[in-house]
Amino acid sequence: MKTYHIVTIPGDGIGPEILDSALQVLAKVQELSGQFRLEYEEREGGAACYQRHGVNLSKESMEACHKADGVLKAPVGLPSVRYPDGTEAGLLGGVLRNGLDLYANVRPIRLWPGVDAPLKAKPGEIDYVIVRENTEGLYLSRGLGVGNDEAFADMLLMTRKGVERVCRFAFELARKRSGSPSDGKRRVTCVDKSNVLRSFWFFRRIFQEMGEQYPDVEKDLLYSDAAGQDLVRRPWRYDVMVMENFLGDLLSDLGGGTVGGLGMCPSANIGVRASYFEPVHGSAPDIAGKGVANPLSQILAAAMMLEHLGEASAAKVIRDAVWEALVSEDLVIQASGQPKGGSQRATQAILRHLRK
Ligand code: NAI
Ligand code: MG
Repeated sequence: MKTYHIVTIPGDGIGPEILDSALQVLAKVQELSGQFRLEYEEREGGAACYQRHGVNLSKESMEACHKADGVLKAPVGLPSVRYPDGTEAGLLGGVLRNGLDLYANVRPIRLWPGVDAPLKAKPGEIDYVIVRENTEGLYLSRGLGVGNDEAFADMLLMTRKGVERVCRFAFELARKRSGSPSDGKRRVTCVDKSNVLRSFWFFRRIFQEMGEQYPDVEKDLLYSDAAGQDLVRRPWRYDVMVMENFLGDLLSDLGGGTVGGLGMCPSANIGVRASYFEPVHGSAPDIAGKGVANPLSQILAAAMMLEHLGEASAAKVIRDAVWEALVSEDLVIQASGQPKGGSQRATQAILRHLRK
């Protein structure tokens, strides 16, 4: 039987609660499949880890993530735990994404059935993926900003290698999908601000160059401010969208808002050798310990991990169970973004709908 070595990071706030839900689902899926085994190694990381040890992730844990077949990470960070420079000490984005060179941050935005979402759309009518460049752009300036009480500057860097590989990833992803919900066309939309900034013009030119290798995929260009409007007005038009790091961070949260909140949004961080899977949202300290968090983001992140490991049918079992639980109203996501009856009841509903 295939065995996968998985590192788990329970993180902060609601992290341990929703990771527990995902692990329950994975245990049942493994049992149903009988084809593979997941072997876990839990690692401390995040704000509480920083408070205890003075580092948000130890060298050994980093090494473990590097060696693992997959990493299932829960949200980390607490707004009260900060470095002397004012930025948060508990975040692992910079450490893991740059440390493991995970250049593609994959964020599917999908409207599931029975979700009390703000747009007039039917389930499945919103179904696009934001591919966010994950190792450079504005966030490469993390910790490097310079300034004083009068002025401050951060820098934005795009490299040919960085833009090429993320664009290639987006085009390859479009080939694996079945096109946009509105017209079924395979389409990659480049989102940038190349009307104003030269670095974004560089990004767009490389996107167009790469696009020539994908004649079967439609190429589409959109400025990021217009994208903010379009993702609310007609999100069904989109299939795959590729963009710089900071823009991807902002627009994927916007997308999450249109499909019932970030609690519905899983994500993957993919590199050549390593990868990790996590919810898009943060540690939600405002609801931590109350048992009300939506565990779907973490459960769907676990499904993305299985898919990446090559266990696509097991991933489908999870997604089908989520779909069925929502259609049958065994699981109801309220307008607050929280599941009716709390996290555990939501988890039980999904467990009941898991079928081989
Ligand atoms: P957040 O995403 O934690 O919460 C924003 C709002 O969404 C809150 O009202 C929260 O209750 C709600 N929410 C989030 N996840 C939910 C879920 N699964 N079910 C129901 N409601 C949910 O963002 P916030 O408050 O800005 O940040 C909290 C902490 O998380 C900060 O320390 C921040 O830096 C960190 N963070 C960590 C991330 C990560 O680990 N990948 C990503 C984003 C933020
Ligand atoms: Mg974010």
